[in-house]
Amino acid sequence: MNNEAILSLFDNNSGVYVSGERISQELGVSRTAVWKQIRKLEAAGYRFEASRKLGYRLMSVPDLFSAEELGLSLKSDVFGKSLQLFDSVESTQNIARAAAEEGAPEGTLIIAEQQVSGRGRMGRGWISPRGQGVWMSMVLRPTIPIHFAPQLTLLTAVALCRSLKRITGLSIGIKWPNDLLIEGKKISGILLESAAEDERLRYVIAGIGISVNLEESDYPEELLAKATSLRIAGGRKWERTEVVADFLKEWEQLYLLYQEQGFGPVITLWEALSVSLGKQVRLITPQGDIAGVPVGLEESGAIRVELADGTFKSVFSAEMGEPL
Ligand code: BTN
Repeated sequence: MNNEAILSLFDNNSGVYVSGERISQELGVSRTAVWKQIRKLEAAGYRFEASRKLGYRLMSVPDLFSAEELGLSLKSDVFGKSLQLFDSVESTQNIARAAAEEGAPEGTLIIAEQQVSGRGRMGRGWISPRGQGVWMSMVLRPTIPIHFAPQLTLLTAVALCRSLKRITGLSIGIKWPNDLLIEGKKISGILLESAAEDERLRYVIAGIGISVNLEESDYPEELLAKATSLRIAGGRKWERTEVVADFLKEWEQLYLLYQEQGFGPVITLWEALSVSLGKQVRLITPQGDIAGVPVGLEESGAIRVELADGTFKSVFSAEMGEPL
């Protein structure tokens, strides 16, 4: 049985229940085959209401990106100019990396409806259900020394935070280095992977995950305390195309400003959006935990932390946890 046959049956019975028996008769398949097909459609983003007595009712169809609509909505000049839209991929990072290796220009953007092996920082995974979020990777070719690459992560977090705040009106802050939080729960993640030769960056793949329309049922139980979505926090769905278009415009402008004026303006913007400054925290580094109060961002992208004895320490890479 293919999706088309069962979906056209629901289309002809819009808003009403169709019994499993009727579906199986009309399509000439077993009840088990009907149930399996419904499960597949649910995995693809279709929502059904199921009733033991009445059967199935189609509640909503996945709201997918259209390459045409995206193309028409983009307001950026270079970012997203070359755009590839995929349905299901392992990770958009892999596709963008392959494109970069083949010489794809700066601004080449890969977007997928779903990632089956989405990657997070520190070797973690990234939940990327179909049609519910923005899962994308962009090729950047900055002419900066390799040790400045962390600046790009912070720049990207600033642009994303400013754009999402503007679109949703929600109170969103940045937890160092680049997590975007609403009431302490993460709504997006940024993963920069770079390829270098000697001291020169050949390219950077900037991966961005925005949990736009995920519902609580999309998260495993243990993540619900730490993660949320714009939909859960805002109590409504958001247009993913608008989210992408607005962010790309903001990101491109900030990237241009950075190329003209350096990292200074990004530091000021980052500090204004940060939820990490001035609070006692614990920084988990491979060399051990550090307790202190972050007081500002440094030119290198490191965070400056005041320790209990009044001295300062620059921390380049760590997980920021709650106070000790
Ligand atoms: C984090 O751990 O906070 C970073 C998460 C980055 C997720 C995005 S989704 C698009 C791109 N493809 C991936 O596999 N990861 C990044």
